[in-house]
Amino acid sequence: MRSTSQFVADRCSTVAMSFPGVFSWDYEHQDEHLVRLYDKAKRSQWNAATDIDWSVEVTPSHLDPGVMATLRDGVGSPFAHLSDAELVELGWESQAWTVSQFLHGEQGALLATAKLVDAVPDEDAKLYAATQVVDEARHVEVYHRYLSDKLDRSYPINVHLQSLLHDLLTDSRWDVTYLGMQIMVESLALAAFGFIYQTTNEPLLRTITSRVMADEARHVAFGIASLTGVYDEMTEHERHDREVFVCEAAELMRDRFLQREVWERAGLPADQCEAFVRGNPVQVQFRSLLFSKVVPNVKRIGLLTPYVREQFKRLGILSFESEPASA
Ligand SMILES: [Fe+2]
Ligand SMILES: [Fe+2]
Repeated sequence: MRSTSQFVADRCSTVAMSFPGVFSWDYEHQDEHLVRLYDKAKRSQWNAATDIDWSVEVTPSHLDPGVMATLRDGVGSPFAHLSDAELVELGWESQAWTVSQFLHGEQGALLATAKLVDAVPDEDAKLYAATQVVDEARHVEVYHRYLSDKLDRSYPINVHLQSLLHDLLTDSRWDVTYLGMQIMVESLALAAFGFIYQTTNEPLLRTITSRVMADEARHVAFGIASLTGVYDEMTEHERHDREVFVCEAAELMRDRFLQREVWERAGLPADQCEAFVRGNPVQVQFRSLLFSKVVPNVKRIGLLTPYVREQFKRLGILSFESEPASA
């Protein structure tokens, strides 16, 4: 019989969060933008159990074979020997991996926004963040159901995503949790959801994605509204801490899309596959496109400083700086 501690270790992991919880005794509205976002969030709630048609059949034939085919067709590809049927199976695994990471990221967002309710100093932000807690719970519900009912397989959290979630949850400064979750993770998620929405032929995932994207657009707008002007008032030393955080987060997010776990599960040479995916021009472009909202949103909150600009240039994502911000 397993002990309780073994059971918990199998099913849970812990992060040590330490931050001051803040009561606000000023209940008068201070920020009309947040008041409007809060009102919009209340009107935009949906029910993952009843507003989604879960009777839709999901099969591998719905997958877009294009992305996987570019892997097989690349020069020196370790995927070159795969048959069409094996490629479809690999695409199915890749889909499960992608949605699994969405699921784990959504749980990270659930913990982060619950923390924001406690830690942010003003009441308008607490009320809005409370609606986001419900949104993220719904996103956890919807992606878990999709994985368990439709794909019948899942993956553990990717180490790069786990590391980023750990960093933003354990930092005691409330603005770093905002910066990590509302700006970095959610801006990237918006672009990833947009890519899925445009490329998948699978009707259920398209429906879920469009619903989730509408919520996420509000979340990013909340982050931008809350952080605009905050960094202008910091000392150079304080701001540099955030610059370093943004750049490390960008690097972790870029590396989380190498899908090593998929290649391992499929019995392919993981080192070779990872190296190929890292350098394959189509994959490089895909990973870079995921930053199309991160970069303008970082600029919008005043953090595209010379230091960050240099690091983003090194990562090949600075070209997105002229794209429109999310709010
Ligand atoms: Fe979410
Ligand atoms: Fe979100």
